[in-house]
Amino acid sequence: MYKDMNGSAHRLAPREIAVTAEPEDERVWVPQADKVWFRPLMLNTLQGQWCNLLRVRRSGILSRHLHPNPVHGYVIKGKWHYLEHDWVADTGSYVFEPPGEIHTLTVPDDCSEMITFFNITGSMFYLDENNKHVGYEDVFTKIDMCRAHYEKVGLGSDYVDQFIR
Ligand SMILES: [Fe+2]
Repeated sequence: MYKDMNGSAHRLAPREIAVTAEPEDERVWVPQADKVWFRPLMLNTLQGQWCNLLRVRRSGILSRHLHPNPVHGYVIKGKWHYLEHDWVADTGSYVFEPPGEIHTLTVPDDCSEMITFFNITGSMFYLDENNKHVGYEDVFTKIDMCRAHYEKVGLGSDYVDQFIR
């Protein structure tokens, strides 16, 4: 419930979200792969979009992927790059990833930890080195991963509900 500028109450407005991006409770980080985690911030089921932090504590290739919609990133810690480009995104960098691009996310050897905020619309479409489709993620698979993890670590599967809109 919120009141607009005329004092009228509205029931259906989505709730705001205000959380500490890097949580004290390690269990909030959801394992994604070996030494790779994500921390959900906003899981938007109405527009098929999600915001999260990605944390990586190993170097090398993480994934080769395509996204049919735009991605925005902001590097909070560490650095990474795409094999297909000559730039490196390091602490404080903003990255715009245009729709349709195929690229290979890589963390350099001299980076022990990277944390990046990503705002992703649509899906992550994973490819092998021959551009064969090998998997995908969207806001619903992210929610499923969160539920399973939070149940397992004792936070309860509904812990993720606070991030879903
Ligand atoms: Fe990407």
